[in-house]
Amino acid sequence: MAGTEPILEVGGLVKHYPLTRGVLFKKQIGAVRAVDGVDLALGRGETLGIVGESGCGKSTLARLLVNLESPTAGSIRYKGEDITGLSGRALKTVRRNIQMVFQDPYTSLNPRMTVGDIVGEPYEIHPEAAPKGDRRRRVRELLDVVGLDPDYVGRYPHQFSGGQRQRIGIARGLALRPEIIVADEPVSALDVSVQAQVINLMARLQDEFGLSYVFIAHDLSIVRHISDRVAVMYLGRIVERGRDTEIYDHPTHPYTQALLSAVPVPDPEARQRRERILLSGDVPSPADIPSGCRFRTRCWKARERCALEVPALAVPEEFRFATGPAAHDSACHFAEEKRPVLPRDPGREPREEPA
Ligand SMILES: Nc1ncnc2c1ncn2[C@@H]1O[C@H](COP(=O)(O)OP(=O)(O)OP(=O)(O)O)[C@@H](O)[C@H]1O
Ligand code: SF4
Ligand SMILES: [Mg+2]
Repeated sequence: MAGTEPILEVGGLVKHYPLTRGVLFKKQIGAVRAVDGVDLALGRGETLGIVGESGCGKSTLARLLVNLESPTAGSIRYKGEDITGLSGRALKTVRRNIQMVFQDPYTSLNPRMTVGDIVGEPYEIHPEAAPKGDRRRRVRELLDVVGLDPDYVGRYPHQFSGGQRQRIGIARGLALRPEIIVADEPVSALDVSVQAQVINLMARLQDEFGLSYVFIAHDLSIVRHISDRVAVMYLGRIVERGRDTEIYDHPTHPYTQALLSAVPVPDPEARQRRERILLSGDVPSPADIPSGCRFRTRCWKARERCALEVPALAVPEEFRFATGPAAHDSACHFAEEKRPVLPRDPGREPREEPA
């Protein structure tokens, strides 16, 4: 499924929100470093999962990717072209091709608009995308594509369940036939039983329309089955990234290991065997990021070097000449495998037992 040429490439992306004091004469006294130097690439037809705790900058990153906000620094390349400085028609074309699906289907749909008007709204902003006389037909077709009855066009959002509302949000995201969809926690507000249905729908649409996805979640277990690659975010930065099995079965960053150790495990026996890693302390404020490694205030392995040197997001020294799944990017001075963090998933490749 994954392509090789990146359709979207992000380099050194930064979004700082100024912190000011004073009412009349505003003085900048600091900055909220919401996104603080992110590098990532999205292949054609690929799904990149982005995972991190609340407040780590996921939604800010999503808004930057779809051009709803402009970055403080860094580049976003769409098919090789830097789109951060675009305006006018060029910007409009890019916006059409990179669409967003929002987190909360209860608040992201206007309660006073009919479903038909919500799904067809992108045609008001991009009238060139569909002739006026054909829009109604297209909206009905989009509802059908996401598994809703096309006769629902005249209904209002409150007449639908959460899962159905998210299908409406997805239909709206598809209206302009984009190439990329940035989905910001599209299933987090839904019941567990409905989450899988929406994820399966998104997987089917990806194949049908050749879409590339950035799929954001705060829980590693949600993105596992849809992502080709996963990036773990902490305080505005990516701390570990790799293919599915590299991250889930061979994590080397202490933060990823802690997140995985908290993933719910249904089998009680397996649950007993795994070791929970409890993180101490709260996530620091993005207005006051620790020196060196930003995870050090909660890391059980932190040493002196961690406060002095920022670890680079690269294959760690220890694995540089290795070829196995542990040899992937991890921003930790003391990266090492810690297994098993998660009990083996039946049906996946067998894993070695811990040494
Ligand atoms: N417009 C803004 N002005 C100032 N600070 C902001 C703004 N938008 C976001 N922030 C701050 O930036 C940080 C990252 O926020 P963001 O919403 O991107 O996180 P998130 O990972 O999406 O969190 P959540 O899981 O809660 O959705 C937070 O500390 C937030 O308060
Ligand atoms: S660099 Fe140090 S503080 Fe940061 S994750 Fe690695 S061991 Fe922990
Ligand atoms: Mg968010």
